[in-house]
Amino acid sequence: MNHKTQVLTPNDRNIDYCAELLSRDELVAVPSETVYGLAGNALSESAVEKIFSVKGRPYIDPLISHFADSDSAAKHINAPKILEQLADTFWPGPLTVVVPKRPNFPNIVTAGLDSVAIRVPNNPLFLALLRKLDFPLAAPSANSFSYVSPTCAEHVMSGLGGKITAILDSGPTNFGIESTILDLRAKTEFKILRPGPITPEQISDAIGIPVSEYPSGQSKATRIDAPGMLEKHYSPLTKLSVFVQTDDTLHLEFEPNAAYVFQKRPDMPPANIKAYWLSEDGDLTTVAHNLFALIRKLDQMQLDEIHVELSPYHGIGVAINDRLNRAARKSNSSH
Ligand code: TXA
Ligand code: MG
Repeated sequence: MNHKTQVLTPNDRNIDYCAELLSRDELVAVPSETVYGLAGNALSESAVEKIFSVKGRPYIDPLISHFADSDSAAKHINAPKILEQLADTFWPGPLTVVVPKRPNFPNIVTAGLDSVAIRVPNNPLFLALLRKLDFPLAAPSANSFSYVSPTCAEHVMSGLGGKITAILDSGPTNFGIESTILDLRAKTEFKILRPGPITPEQISDAIGIPVSEYPSGQSKATRIDAPGMLEKHYSPLTKLSVFVQTDDTLHLEFEPNAAYVFQKRPDMPPANIKAYWLSEDGDLTTVAHNLFALIRKLDQMQLDEIHVELSPYHGIGVAINDRLNRAARKSNSSH
């Protein structure tokens, strides 16, 4: 496939145009409140095949399907009772739920699983587009498989430019980190499959049912829980490692051709090192918002290594550290 990828400004005419492209099984990168998604008609096998092929994503890694509202999802799933309450509280928003699918929903989207991951995104353009369509949009993050997720149109262009028809540009995304994934198939305790902007505490407060922390008693998700979560993911090409700030940190022997990324502006940046920070004051929402853009920028700088300080393990910090630890994991595949 060889396109000249169009970057479209956000207006009604371009939303109509994207709807037309998607109806013809073409792929469009769309903004969401989390990261940019690579969207195609979830009910069309040929569109979904293109998504896997453009991303270089293995077919065993299922996609999230996006709907305009929970009513439009109803005919494709066997909705557990609790979904209504969750949808009222968190949709549109960065919560994805895994629920039993109906047999007609295409197996290619769900990698043959009998469950499907669904969400209603909270971005006005994405929602306007979904409302124009009579099908849901399958949309993984709009990056090549296992690379860092895109938080602006330029990121999408640098990874997928020439391979997709269009990018709907609405500037940088709000959260900067992918949605929380919650497995709703259990009867008693629901499990977080991927930590994200919505925390287990927020969910259990809303529904009055315990939600297990991530990772729930085990160090890794199992294959059946979240197939795509097994891989080394979110990784720049440059080696990335994580560190925790202790009194010793500043006494380390710093490598000259490495970047050191702090959670907040250091009181006294160590001399002669390439120091960066993800926020002025350690605010975790800001850290999440800036994280992928900074890693992508540093990945362009021919560094020997990128060292990133971990967040405190609370709130969205759990999701930030999940992404950092995955990026730091040694690759056991060719990706
Ligand atoms: O914020 C987000 O969720 C973004 C935006 C575009 O919506 N999307 C996103 O998609 O991050 P992706 O494909 O990069 O990550 C989807 C994750 C994968 O780890 C996949 O394994 C998991 O969702 N997943 C999808 N369907 C599943 C299912 N039926 N059971 C368990 N995990 C599933
Ligand atoms: Mg992804």
